[in-house]
Amino acid sequence: VKWTAEERAAIEAVFASLDYESVGRESLTRLLVVYPWTRRYFGGFGNLFNTEAIMANPKVAAHGTVVLQGLEMALEDMDNIKKTYASLSELHSEKLQVDPGNFQLLGDCLTVVIATRMRTEFTPVIQAAWQKFLCVVVAALRRQYN
Ligand code: HEM
Repeated sequence: VKWTAEERAAIEAVFASLDYESVGRESLTRLLVVYPWTRRYFGGFGNLFNTEAIMANPKVAAHGTVVLQGLEMALEDMDNIKKTYASLSELHSEKLQVDPGNFQLLGDCLTVVIATRMRTEFTPVIQAAWQKFLCVVVAALRRQYN
């Protein structure tokens, strides 16, 4: 995958604008509420029975930050994203057995949250670079699945 200087700048601008704690929590909350089957993977997180419980769950909040930190890893080497995610891909496929279609869903939830935060600054050009970035990360996470 090739990145233009504009795309790199756009992706960095999105990350720079993000408050990991609140954006991570809200994105994961949306995933669990909008796509309720995703709750099954988080058996260790305690009460995820309804929207109120998910919103108040401290493990959801903490894990939201972990996911964003995981996404940020891609920035360190934008030309080797596949390599960066080799072990996370293996973890999600072999140990956690997460259906890989869910990666895209989490990406979509994150995009919705980012749009609500950045508002008019989330221009079509910024969104285009952001979606490309998510596609590459999701493809890298799917890589260890057969
Ligand atoms: C754990 C990143 C999508 C389920 C993790 C960890 C990271 C991460 C960094 C911690 C790994 C460790 O402790 O070594 C990501 C990224 C995703 C993504 C970047 C996509 C953009 C998903 C999806 C699901 C999921 C869609 C399920 C629907 C889990 C579970 C854990 C985990 C169950 C273990 C949580 C725990 O028990 O602490 N993920 N993840 N992940 N992920 Fe993901």
